[in-house]
Amino acid sequence: MKIGILGSGVVGQTLASGFIKYGNQVKIGTSNPAKLSDWLKTAGSNASVGSFDEAAEFGELIVLAVKGIAALKVLEKSGSANLKGKTIIDATNPIEESAPVNGVLKFFTNINHSLMEDLQNKYPEASFVKAFSCVGSALMVNPDFKGTKPTMFIAGNNEKSKNDVKNILEKFGWEYEDMGTAEAARAIEPLCILWCIPGFRQNDWTHAFKLLKK
Ligand SMILES: NC(=O)c1ccc[n+]([C@@H]2O[C@H](COP(=O)([O-])OP(=O)(O)OC[C@H]3O[C@@H](n4cnc5c(N)ncnc54)[C@H](OP(=O)(O)O)[C@@H]3O)[C@@H](O)[C@H]2O)c1
Repeated sequence: MKIGILGSGVVGQTLASGFIKYGNQVKIGTSNPAKLSDWLKTAGSNASVGSFDEAAEFGELIVLAVKGIAALKVLEKSGSANLKGKTIIDATNPIEESAPVNGVLKFFTNINHSLMEDLQNKYPEASFVKAFSCVGSALMVNPDFKGTKPTMFIAGNNEKSKNDVKNILEKFGWEYEDMGTAEAARAIEPLCILWCIPGFRQNDWTHAFKLLKK
């Protein structure tokens, strides 16, 4: 499959390498291709870099992995025609540009309204699926918890898109919990705040969530 990754940071690069590992072709979109020259040298022949709109056009499936405050702007640069009808994995978090307080990040959204709902409302012909937002990049692809699979919480309005994302998560070594429609991103996005607290307070970034069930 062809995957367009919007975002050149550590998340974009990590997920791009994960998709390549499982036999996909990937184009990372950025406004600054020079940032990816080291990644390109090691990523192999299925890797390429382009502008945001080139990556969006390339992708049969798209990953959104840019700063939360830039998400709408980057989608606009990507071109709505290039997003239409496609699954967009939304890994973004709406983190405010201010320092955490005692390890607690601030969001520019509120508990009754998520970033992904804004993105979905703005691009109703694309199918956003929240995923990968509540774990650090180092654990996104085949995390090693000595045989225990962590849980990725996902949400989105389109069942087929969520099924595609569930298959990807299984390949990437995760179990998933489907929390329903886009509104559930109101609960998933703040998991990022919780996940980061041990990091900011104790420099511990090696955990992931698991939903225990009877
Ligand atoms: N880091 C993690 O472990 C982690 C884990 C889970 C979720 N997330 C979320 O995933 C997303 C990506 O995180 P990241 O750490 O990989 O990188 P990041 O530094 O949050 O984002 C880098 C990307 O955002 C774009 N960007 C930043 N500011 C912009 C602006 N003002 N206008 C247009 N584009 C802008 C950059 O564009 P250029 O390519 O043009 O430079 C780049 O592609 C974030 O929403 C983050 O909250 C991160």
